[in-house]
Amino acid sequence: MTRLLVDRLVDFNNERLRLIFGERVTELTREIIERRRGDLGSALDALQRQYPDDVAALEVRFLRQSAVRQETGRYQALFEEGLIPQELFEDLKRGVTAARAAEPRPRFDIGLDTRRLIEQLDFLSALSNAQLDRVARLLRPRFTVPNERIVRAGDRGDAVFFVASGAVEVRLPVRNVRLGTGEFFGEMALLTGRPRQADVVALSYCRLLVLRKADFDRFVTANPDAGAAINRVAQTRLAMNRDDHDRAARRRPDSTRSP
Ligand code: CMP
Repeated sequence: MTRLLVDRLVDFNNERLRLIFGERVTELTREIIERRRGDLGSALDALQRQYPDDVAALEVRFLRQSAVRQETGRYQALFEEGLIPQELFEDLKRGVTAARAAEPRPRFDIGLDTRRLIEQLDFLSALSNAQLDRVARLLRPRFTVPNERIVRAGDRGDAVFFVASGAVEVRLPVRNVRLGTGEFFGEMALLTGRPRQADVVALSYCRLLVLRKADFDRFVTANPDAGAAINRVAQTRLAMNRDDHDRAARRRPDSTRSP
């Protein structure tokens, strides 16, 4: 729907806005609309690749509903032209509405079943089924779209995120680090009490499992091995960032170095 609307905006911009605001402004709005159209195209393309069956089902539904709208429009026109009486028109409309209501909505299963997602996390593979059930009660599933910012540098940390599927990018001052299925992020703020060290942005559609700060300690107490594994990864990341920071500081001229 959004793409259809943006397509119509292109004509609106060319035909109507040009008359009111002139060439210069319309050129700027055209660029903005084209950029939005490009972003939408890539998002739809990614959606199509990741959920081809769901997209096909949605397209079929969309076509059917367009046909229904056209059918209603034709009856309306016949009625307005006086070719069919009101009673018949109402009857035809009821028939169309009933057919539309009878069509089931396609179920869009984005696979956010916490218990199944947990099985993607290798560092929990040693847990028994009963332990996994307990962990599942602490984790909340979250779905993200490409380019969505999940963590903002400088914010207070309120959760750690486990990637059950998809890819994210950690945007650090010196480098970007990609993390994928089975990895996690957002643990540093919880472990150190410091603000978030980097933006973390989704590169694809992701299924994440979110462990809120209030549940993190409970999780670590109940699963000490998993807690130790998270701690080890955090230490390695801290060391990497410290190295990057020191190297960057050495490259800066003395005048810009803080005393
Ligand atoms: P936090 O600081 O809470 O929020 C940003 C997150 O990015 C951070 O926790 C880590 O999970 C992640 N992160 C920071 N530095 C690195 C790194 N060098 N490699 C991988 N991930 C990192």
